[in-house]
Parts: sequence; structure tokens; C-alpha cells
Amino acid sequence: MSIIKKINEELKTIFYQAGYEVDSIHLLPSNRKDLGDFQINEAFSLAKKYGKNPREIAENIVKELEKDNKFTNINIAGAGFINITLTEDYLVKQLNEITSDINKNIDRPEPKKIIIDFGGANVSKSLHVGHLRSAILGEGLKKLGRLMGYTVLGDAHLGDYGRPLGLVELEIKKMYPNLAYFDENYVGDYTEIQLPITNEDLEKIYPIASKKAKEDENYLEEARVITTKIQNKTKGYYELWKKIVDISKKDIKSVYDSLNVHYDLWLGESDSVEYIDELTSILESKNLLKDSENAKIIELEEENDKAPMPPLLFIKSNGSISYETTDLATILQRKKEFSPDEIWYCVDGRQKLHFEQVFRAARKANIVEEQDKLEFIGFGTMNGKDGKPFKTRDGGVMTLKSLIELVEEETYKRIVIAIDDEEEKKNIASKVAIACLKYSDFIPYRETDYIFEIEKFADLEGKTGSYILYSTIRMNSLLKKSEGIKKEKIHSLTTTEEKEIALTILNLPTILTKALEIKSLNEITEYLYKLTSQYNKFYSENKVLVEENEKIRESWLVLTKLVYDINCLLLDTLGIEVPEKM
Ligand code: ARG
Repeated sequence: MSIIKKINEELKTIFYQAGYEVDSIHLLPSNRKDLGDFQINEAFSLAKKYGKNPREIAENIVKELEKDNKFTNINIAGAGFINITLTEDYLVKQLNEITSDINKNIDRPEPKKIIIDFGGANVSKSLHVGHLRSAILGEGLKKLGRLMGYTVLGDAHLGDYGRPLGLVELEIKKMYPNLAYFDENYVGDYTEIQLPITNEDLEKIYPIASKKAKEDENYLEEARVITTKIQNKTKGYYELWKKIVDISKKDIKSVYDSLNVHYDLWLGESDSVEYIDELTSILESKNLLKDSENAKIIELEEENDKAPMPPLLFIKSNGSISYETTDLATILQRKKEFSPDEIWYCVDGRQKLHFEQVFRAARKANIVEEQDKLEFIGFGTMNGKDGKPFKTRDGGVMTLKSLIELVEEETYKRIVIAIDDEEEKKNIASKVAIACLKYSDFIPYRETDYIFEIEKFADLEGKTGSYILYSTIRMNSLLKKSEGIKKEKIHSLTTTEEKEIALTILNLPTILTKALEIKSLNEITEYLYKLTSQYNKFYSENKVLVEENEKIRESWLVLTKLVYDINCLLLDTLGIEVPEKM
């Protein structure tokens, strides 16, 4: 149990002794530090409950609080706000209980099993900046969930189904008509066919094919036929599809790896297809499939709808299934194969309606249990300085690889220490680059759009990944230099800075709980900046290693270790690696 939760529990008893029963108490960091470090506002709700004056209630509570030696400077402000400060002795004792393991200062909710669907990569198309936020936010939420005790599975849910793949195969066929994949009489081993195509080729092929399809009706029709062949698992076309998925997946994986984003499941839209028959029977048995102009739809409108709710297109008029269909089938698949309590979708905010449709259909069909949660975790857009989605200099789509390189070049220039080994220097620059990209992305609340400003993001000062990393590395090097010096416990908190750090440490569990509740990492970046800045202020005003008073020096080192541990824990939660030096 966290320190603050323990105090809240004890306060409940104190309130009880004063004659008041409350369900829970929240000791809040005060916004009037001159009056006390914390405030307690419960006198107002109790006033309603007991039909008494809040001031009188506050006075009765204060009488009890004064008997407890962990509190000091107890006073009442205004109509009944109680201000309170924790004594140094108490604070020191509490901090010493968590120094061995910072996890002790985290409050964990009831365990749950979660699947997070994030990343959204599409096979044979290059990842572009639009995919960045889903990948890094999803990874962060996965880690946050695990830190808070949830069992979390991250699923890449690849876009590996449907028309784009048909288009790509058609274009390959045009380029290499004699490839054995297209030979109906081929009886050999498909794995032995040499496909003269790399991932870079694939990324070029899709836009070409897509353009041709827009201009040429016959080309589009040909692609459609091939798409159906892939979906019907017609030998050569299906084998080629597998090969394309393979090539593409390797590349997608390597981009995600470079972002330090990792998945437990690499399933795709196509994996849900084997559940479509079962899904169809469920829908039919509940009479949910309606005919509409040769298509099959699920009507979703409800009485209290404030906005129009279009029906879900389950089978298109040409017989093929839609993006909605695979998402619905994927829910059935996930329930059957993994039985999660919740499924979170970390997807661009513009897909909100799509998911509302899918969730409603899932509820109508009862393929999830009532208590199960399906949650859309939408996010805003990363824009350029012109306020439009971030592009390359000539206005083209910026691939995720180029974006990462751009930031790497910037962080490479700013490495402060001399490093001879070029390889090592690039390695460090790339870790710092990912830190800068992620940290800046997490600063605004997830639904907010933000502007990509590379110089600002990579700056060594201010709210940046660089600043936090640099400071954290410095804490570590101080700790390394102090090897051999006793670091058992904190004896006192001598300076104001230390006390402020201690109070910020007390606030850690509240921040984590809030971040999990709103599924946004902005609370964590803000907290990291606050704690790091407080520590840096302390560091610049005190010479830790040469301090003569041994007890003070020991206290300072243990406090440094605590802050360092918290920084490492939170950076790891954000998916940020700390390099040895920078
Ligand atoms: N591949 C999709 C896209 O690029 C995103 C997938 C999001 N996840 C999902 N279950 N639909 O738009």
C-alpha cells in the first residue's frame, strides 16, 4: 500500500474517533503551501451528512488530529478546509520503507486481463507518421497496465486483408507475368520460388497499383478477382500473399523495434476470418442481419441517439466483407482464444464512429459479456508547423523511418560528451531520439493534436526527453561515484528542496492511478519533469559527495537513489530506454 493510501486509511480512523464516518478520505497536496503541505476537504461533505456547520466539524477533527504525532502545523482555513503537514520524522520513516523497492509506493487496482490493439500497420504499405502515435501510446499503456498489475497482451492487428493485397499482387503479376505463383499448373514447392521483390519494392508497388485502379476500371476489376482468389485460398495467389505478408512483417517489426515497441501477438485482420461463419450464425440466430440492396447490414440505431448511427455493413453487395466485419469477428476471436476482461483500441481519433458501430454490434450479438469493456482510446494528430498533418518538405507523406532518422540527426548533433566510437555514438543518438519523440508526444493529453517541432523536442533544457535522460544519467553517475559509501537510509530532510522531493514522491501513486484511469501518459511526463527539476535544483545547490556530515551525505545519496529509481521506472513505462551516457 502506498504511503498516501496508508495515511488516508489512518485518517478514516481519526475521523471515526472524532465521531464521523466516511467511506474514504483524500489527503490532497495543498495549493496554499504557506498554510500546510496538504489539505483535507471532507468537512464539507460531512456537514451535509450530519447537518452541521463544516467549521465545527473541522474543529472536532483537528482536536483528534493533534493527538497524532505524524501531523504538525494543523489549522483550519475558510469555512472548514483543514490544512496539515506531515512531520519530518514521519516522512523520513515512510521514505525509508520504500527505498528498497519503489513498487511499494504504488496502489494497484483489481487485476484484469486486457488486450490492447495498437500499431495499426498495413501489410505492403510503409508505416508513416500517422502510425507513430498508436504504436508508442499503445506500448506505453501496455507497460502502464502491467506496472499496475494487469495482465496485458499487445496485438499488432495487422491490416493484411482485402483490396490492397489484391492490388499489389496484380501489379506484381504485370511486372513478372511468368512467376510460378501465377501458373495454374505449377506443382512445385512454393517456398522455392524466388520472388525478386524487397520490402522497398512493395512500398512502391502499392501506390502505383492504387493509382492505376483509380484510373482504369478494368485494372480494378482484375484486382478484385485476385483479392477473391487470395481470400478463397486459391493456391498460387494465396501463397504469394503469405510471402508478401512475410516480407512486409519483417520490415514492420524492425521499425517497431527501433521505436522500442513490442507485441505479444502478431495477429491480423485475416486471422479473424475463420470466425466469420460462427459470427454469421450468431447474428442470424438473433435475427440481426438485414438485407439491404444485396448487402447484409446490422442496424444499430438506438432511441436516445443524439447523432445519426449508420448501420454496420457486414457483407458488401459484391459479397466481400468489410473492415467492420473483421473487427467484429476479431472480438469473437479474442474472447474465444484469450478471454480478456477488456479490449482497448489505441487508434486514430477519426475512427471513433467505426468503433462505436463495432462495439454496438458486439453488444447486440452478445459476443462479449455484459461486464466486459470495449474501449476506444483515440488520439489526435501530429501536425506540422502549418497546422496540417506533418509532411515531408515537398509535401509528400513522411514515412515513419524518415521521421525517426530526422530526429536521430538532430539528437546526434547534441550529444555532449566526446565519443570516439562512431557506432556507439549513433546508438546513443538513436536512443535519445526515441526518447525525445515519445516524451514530446506524451506531453499533451492524448486526444489533443500537437505540432512537431524538432528543435524544441530535442532540446537539452525544458520538458523534453533529452532533459529527463540527461538528468537521470547524471543521477546514476553520482551514485556510481559514491560506491563504497554507506547508503542505507535517510536520516533527515535538511533542505526545502529535499522536502519538496519527498512530497512529490508521495504523489507518485496518485499520478499512476490517474494515468491509468484516463489512459493518457501526460500525467507521467508532467510528473517526471517536476521530480527531475526539483532534484536538479537540489543537486545544483548541494555538493553531495563532498558533504562532511556523514548522515546528511547518506540521506542525500539515498534520496538520489529513490529519485533515480522512480525516473527509471517511469521512463521504462513510457517505453524510453536510458543510455549509459549522452
Ligand atoms: N490498419 C488500420 C488503419 O491503418 C488500423 C487498425 C486499427 N485496429 C483495428 N482493430 N481496427 O487504419
